[in-house]
Amino acid sequence: MKSTLTKFVLGGVAASMLTLGVSADTLTRQNGAPVGDNQNSQTAGPWGPVLLQDSHLIEKLAAFDRERIPERVVHARGTGVYGYYENLVDLSDETLAAPFQSAGKKTDVFVRFSSVVHGHLSPETLRDPRGFAVKFYTEQGNWDLVGNNFPVFFIRDAIKFPDMVHAFKPSPVTNKQEPKRIFDFFSHVPESTHTLTMLFSDYGTPASYLNMDGSGVHAFKFVDDEGNYKYVKFTWKSNQPIKNFTNEEAMKVQGMDMQPHTTDIYTRIGEKGETASWDLYLQELEPEQLDDFEFNPLDTTKIWPESLVPAKKIGRLVLNRVPDNFFEETEQAAFAPSNLIPGIEPSEDRMLQGRLFSYADTQRYRLGVNAYRIPVNSPKNAVINNHEQHGQLRTTSTARDVNYQPSRRLDLNEDPAFRYSSKPLAGMTQQIPFYKEQNFKQAGEFFRNLTKEGQQNLIYNLGGALASVPEEEIRVIISAYMYNADKDYGAGVAKLAKAPMSKVRQTAKDLMEQQAARAAKAKQVA
Ligand code: HEM
Repeated sequence: MKSTLTKFVLGGVAASMLTLGVSADTLTRQNGAPVGDNQNSQTAGPWGPVLLQDSHLIEKLAAFDRERIPERVVHARGTGVYGYYENLVDLSDETLAAPFQSAGKKTDVFVRFSSVVHGHLSPETLRDPRGFAVKFYTEQGNWDLVGNNFPVFFIRDAIKFPDMVHAFKPSPVTNKQEPKRIFDFFSHVPESTHTLTMLFSDYGTPASYLNMDGSGVHAFKFVDDEGNYKYVKFTWKSNQPIKNFTNEEAMKVQGMDMQPHTTDIYTRIGEKGETASWDLYLQELEPEQLDDFEFNPLDTTKIWPESLVPAKKIGRLVLNRVPDNFFEETEQAAFAPSNLIPGIEPSEDRMLQGRLFSYADTQRYRLGVNAYRIPVNSPKNAVINNHEQHGQLRTTSTARDVNYQPSRRLDLNEDPAFRYSSKPLAGMTQQIPFYKEQNFKQAGEFFRNLTKEGQQNLIYNLGGALASVPEEEIRVIISAYMYNADKDYGAGVAKLAKAPMSKVRQTAKDLMEQQAARAAKAKQVA
């Protein structure tokens, strides 16, 4: 009901007529009450102090004081886009997973692209891997494929991840990112050779999030309705031509626009209404094939070369809409490798196993225990139906008397059709590296597949960064990794890094011997 009252303004000559109902264009407080003055604080007369009773002022400042939430510990800077996944091949005989049940089936997705090392306002042009995280809103719940643009990773065991990130991040003493700390760490990690090689190539400075490929990196399992499984890897191949910056181009762009990737997405998709697409490729291995290769297929530092494990195109990702609100949708987005659905299970990959814990854990800290009730993270095409309750910022109601299970009073039960698959296990618990390390071979293949210019850029970028490391021993070891990958590559890096070749050759030989010795020891225990 609309009624009116007469209100006398303090100091009282003027009187204004207000409606009792608050109209849609009136500024309000958090409680919905209209704001009478948003320009002048309430004071004790013309010369007196500001009054604590000005609740609107206090509430406004308090909300502002709490605007920031902790940023992601890694991948802090990112850009989100909505779209869909269109499946092209019926894979229902291989997996229960909803997106793959028929050809032509479409599933809504939200994708967040990101850089890794620096903070949420850092330049997007820096040398870094790029995150490529896809949330599929399926009828079986949300499935997150939290990948990168590179198909491999620096390390193969989650236990090394915090140390690696500490080395990459700015020093706690100087707050500067320093090559000497990065290469000190990696001089103990020969398995990083492959990903370091990609990082220092022009692939480490992509020109656009839309013009790069993506990868799920790890092996996952496709599980059918009888619990049979095979190992699978997912790769996104861009339908936009791959475009990278050289180091010089990246620095030049950075001088003009430190957020070119976000600008690019908001211009192409947001303003011009263009779409971007990627084809999804699948590689598959039967469990009994795991030991058929010179490398371990569950090792994140390795690709499954397509010459050995063919890749088939199974679908298409189309991105077509930017979020309405960056904070609500992109900043609060929470992707986790543990968000899986029936028909997709983790492999025994030692990195993936650590990631299964880490993401949901950090999100409980970053966003709170109800992180998955935030709209962008909530299932859109499935319902949440369990007895988890309460906690900070719970806004959805699940109030029901029976908040336990099993119960004779509420028919809400598990479905054994969705039990995890079983796998026979035998042996002692152990802490032993893989016996098939093969730390250098794929890095050499990557190097030789680059154009001559690409090879020179890589040598220049890596050799230049390494040259600033004071310790000769570190420069020699890193050059020796690259020498073991490819002699020309290693020699080129060593020359720029001022690492004496005689020492590089000897260290390269030692590294191969150490690798063989570790393999022999691990094989003995296996
Ligand atoms: C983000 C941990 C390896 C891709 C994150 C976050 C953590 C984390 C804590 C922040 C999550 C958040 O606040 O929401 C780890 C650990 C790893 C690991 C412990 C190794 C054991 C990897 C690998 C990949 C990857 C191998 C690529 C395959 C990403 C991406 C994001 C991310 C794309 C950003 C997700 C988003 O856009 O919100 N990681 N990570 N990480 N990680 Fe990892």
